[in-house]
Amino acid sequence: MKGRFITFEGGEGAGKSTQIQYLAEALRALGHDVVMTREPGGSPGAEAVRHVLLSGAAEEFGVRIEAILFAAARSDHVEELIRPAVEAGKIVLCDRFMDSSRVYQGVTGNLEPEFVTALERVAINGMVPDLTIILDLPAEVGLARAAARAGSGNPDRYEKEALSIHEKRREAFLEIAQKEPERCKVVDANQPADSIAQTIEKLAIEQLALSRLPDEPPRKKRTRKRSSAKAASSDITAEPQ
Ligand SMILES: Nc1ncnc2c1ncn2[C@@H]1O[C@H](COP(=O)(O)OP(=O)(O)O)[C@@H](O)[C@H]1O
Ligand SMILES: [Mg+2]
Repeated sequence: MKGRFITFEGGEGAGKSTQIQYLAEALRALGHDVVMTREPGGSPGAEAVRHVLLSGAAEEFGVRIEAILFAAARSDHVEELIRPAVEAGKIVLCDRFMDSSRVYQGVTGNLEPEFVTALERVAINGMVPDLTIILDLPAEVGLARAAARAGSGNPDRYEKEALSIHEKRREAFLEIAQKEPERCKVVDANQPADSIAQTIEKLAIEQLALSRLPDEPPRKKRTRKRSSAKAASSDITAEPQ
């Protein structure tokens, strides 16, 4: 059985990392094999690029180079981790994916749409998410959460940008959802974490028909039969000895 690919998108502090954990637990409780991953990164090749991007080390080379690095990391992540896992029947939950590139490098990076689209095509190589959860909340609230989470640590390359840029990103995510309403579901992220989790669980289960694994009961039966047959045959061979 083919698995599923679900991505989580939204601004800084929107609750992506929090909600991915909730959904992973809920889906595991239903018997699914869940893989949690994140971008940039998620595979050894991509993790090597992650630091370069988030530390701001590539910023001086310009947004085109950054976009190419994101695409390189994504390509490695897709081919090494995401596609093999989905083909093996797993549910892959990914913290940020192609929509973050559309928004961060495309919209607020002012890159030409053709360039962003071409990079996306090469990087994902057909691996379009089955479902994208867009966590929506005022940028100010998200940034305050991210700052509280970071404590005295330094904000990353993107967290330190101006509030107006973060607001523009929020609008850009909502625009993507408007253009692709089948794939993208907007969730109000300005609520308690557990009620957001319930909304997302319902969305994922309904949209992707994930209520239970259809091959779970027969698999158990077969195992039981085989082991009891084995036990019986070893009893028989034990008798003459
Ligand atoms: N619904 C929520 N309400 C209040 N605080 C939240 C909520 N969801 C997450 N947080 C907190 O906000 C911070 C950012 O959440 P996180 O999941 O790390 O966001 P993201 O991964 O989108 O940047 C964390 O400290 C987290 O505990
Ligand atoms: Mg996070």
